[in-house]
Amino acid sequence: MRAEVVSMDAEHLDKEVIKKAGQILKNGGLVAFPTETVYGLGGNALDPKASMKIYAAKGRPSDNPLIVHIAEIEKLKEVTTEIPEGARILAEKYWPGPLTMILPKADIVPKETTGGLDSVAVRFPSDVIAQELIKAAGGFVAAPSANTSGRPSPTMAEHVEEDLGDAIDMILDGGQVGIGLESTIVDFTEKIPVVLRPGYISLEMLQETLGEVRMDKGLLITDSSVRPKAPGMKYRHYAPEADLSIVEGETEKVITYINSRASEAEKQGKTVGIIATDETAGLYKAGVIRSIGSRAEEETIAHHLYEVLRDFDGDGVSAIFSEAFYTPKMGQAIMNRLLKAAGHKIIKVQEEQK
Ligand code: TXA
Ligand code: MG
Repeated sequence: MRAEVVSMDAEHLDKEVIKKAGQILKNGGLVAFPTETVYGLGGNALDPKASMKIYAAKGRPSDNPLIVHIAEIEKLKEVTTEIPEGARILAEKYWPGPLTMILPKADIVPKETTGGLDSVAVRFPSDVIAQELIKAAGGFVAAPSANTSGRPSPTMAEHVEEDLGDAIDMILDGGQVGIGLESTIVDFTEKIPVVLRPGYISLEMLQETLGEVRMDKGLLITDSSVRPKAPGMKYRHYAPEADLSIVEGETEKVITYINSRASEAEKQGKTVGIIATDETAGLYKAGVIRSIGSRAEEETIAHHLYEVLRDFDGDGVSAIFSEAFYTPKMGQAIMNRLLKAAGHKIIKVQEEQK
């Protein structure tokens, strides 16, 4: 089976295609679709067999729960048993949008969908194609990112085809996604809300709205003895084929260091990949240099991260070196993904001792 790929225009939705895709989901099939964050691999969230199919298609461990996507706010109470005040406030402020909330699960959600947990992750995406598909499918679509487990998440339909073209029924191609990093996940099953995965909506924004919000301890890299609470965050993830290292320090020293590694590699007949920015790309002397975006517009860095990581695959580079991107708003989310892609390999170029 090869997935049918259909181009979609969000401004002029083809109702027949949406109906057909919705029917595939109702019948237990799988359809990939765009969201504002990354492409999702959809199946009927209330059908345990569909969830099992999703795990199989991705090669994902079945203890790693899926997010249930809704397209009408009233549906939230059908999949949860309790909606705390904080969750209501966030839903009102950020839905539809790049926010996922973990809440106690109602019985209609099968354990296959939640990886055996008693809680359920719920998200109301803002993408119109996603919304119409969810409605056509009956209201509840389980959708992890539409990549093979471990690979960078797909930000365009071509990525989905590459990874899952032979494993699913249909791909709705809505072009390149807007944000490029997965939704922020906030856990409401504890007294104080906890961020399990940083995203476009930052910890600071959540604290501004709710007051006290913490970051999951398992995400703070210095403390590797604590496991992240979101099962998916414990795996090496988003990784390109070649070994990736992050080089941290003063910009000039980072560039000097990467240049020396690049020329060393060249002498041995090898090529390195370099993840640079618009501001620095011209300063590298050897290797395959890719600009990820501009530090002046940090959204562009988030937007291109997964695409750049994928683009190095098949390039024959022996290693990849990346600058670090601790940018003011999205830096937390960007570095969370980049560190996972690098398996936390960081090279610190030190200030010279005075
Ligand atoms: O932006 C997104 O959220 C995308 C689009 C398609 O909506 N979806 C996505 O799904 O990123 P996925 O499956 O790739 O990541 C879901 C994450 C995983 O790390 C999973 O472990 C965690 O959410 N998760 C899901 N349900 C959970 C639960 N009940 N408790 C804790 N973590 C949960
Ligand atoms: Mg994923």
